[in-house]
Amino acid sequence: MKKTILVTGGTGYIGSHTTVELQQAGYDVVIADNLSNSNINVLDGIEKITGVRPAFEKIDLQDREATENLFKKYPHIDGIIHFAASKAVGESVEKPLMYYRNNIVSLINLLELMPQYNVGGIIFSSSCTVYGQPTEENLPVTEQAPIQKALSPYGNTKQINEEIIQDYVHSGAPIKSIILRYFNPIGAHPTANIGELPNGVPMNLIPFVTQTAIGVRKQLKIFGNDYGTPDGTCIRDYIYVVDLAKAHVKAMARVLGEDTPAIEYFNVGTGKGVSTLEVVQAFEKATGVKVNWEYAPRREGDIEKVWGNVDHANQVLGWKAEAKLEDVLASAWKWQLKLREDGVM
Ligand code: UD1
Repeated sequence: MKKTILVTGGTGYIGSHTTVELQQAGYDVVIADNLSNSNINVLDGIEKITGVRPAFEKIDLQDREATENLFKKYPHIDGIIHFAASKAVGESVEKPLMYYRNNIVSLINLLELMPQYNVGGIIFSSSCTVYGQPTEENLPVTEQAPIQKALSPYGNTKQINEEIIQDYVHSGAPIKSIILRYFNPIGAHPTANIGELPNGVPMNLIPFVTQTAIGVRKQLKIFGNDYGTPDGTCIRDYIYVVDLAKAHVKAMARVLGEDTPAIEYFNVGTGKGVSTLEVVQAFEKATGVKVNWEYAPRREGDIEKVWGNVDHANQVLGWKAEAKLEDVLASAWKWQLKLREDGVM
């Protein structure tokens, strides 16, 4: 029988791409999303790609009763992928309690309900932000690198949620979990039917690059050119969102499988560090479109350089990032052009 996966935050950026990959791998998907940072039209995009419209429930997972009603309505959920969370670093500094309440209460509600409704596994969206700035000898960073004090309430919610899951599993709760620590997800589905749609002025690099290239933004600022890196700009591990989505499918099969550990942690990245300047250059090369940019002062709270050691995911999950950076940047551009065509921006 087909397995059913609850994807919370499934109309969001990573959630929508993961829904597509799950459906294509033969799972049924139920999406729960409060649409606080996404659009219901994303379901059309998913349906265009897979031919199947996922079940959708507009609910806020902070609402315990509504969440329980979801499990009553869909009594055969096998596993959960929990994306639903607030994710803007700056906003979290201004509204810490909103971040703590939303990101933590939602997870607790899901965890409490899992045993009651026989849901065996949960994949949690964590972030490389838990490593802070790793020391030189800890780069590329492995899952064993020390967790460092979070630089923002957002980052702290990721750490706290990891600990909550860990404590719950260790208490003997009849659930298993895989925690995925993402590096920097970028790009869009190759069909351009789904992609990243930030609200307002984008904070993340790639949407800012594509919006500048298309003329929605005047100029990209590259934050800092005096870092201790070869070209002076920050280094990140940019992972194609479709590759990242596929990692969730592997993780789901593993967490629901027999004889796997009750809790596991995986870095999900490419294993390669790329500088901000290199990203902009690669975008120009991939698309033939010039980006108007200049150097600007460092952005507060930015980490100088981080990229992942992804051996554990390669070997244990049997997953590997496949996409080439230029193709990924071309997919982001195709998506931006589609948004223009559709009159979104
Ligand atoms: C940020 C968060 C991270 C979070 C992730 C979610 C911080 C410190 N980290 O990652 O915790 O999980 O977003 O999306 O905020 N850049 C520019 N100009 C721009 C935008 C970005 O130069 O207009 C540079 C940044 O300085 C950075 C790189 O591009 O070096 C990537 O930035 P971004 O896309 O915001 O991701 P992170 O900061 O790595």
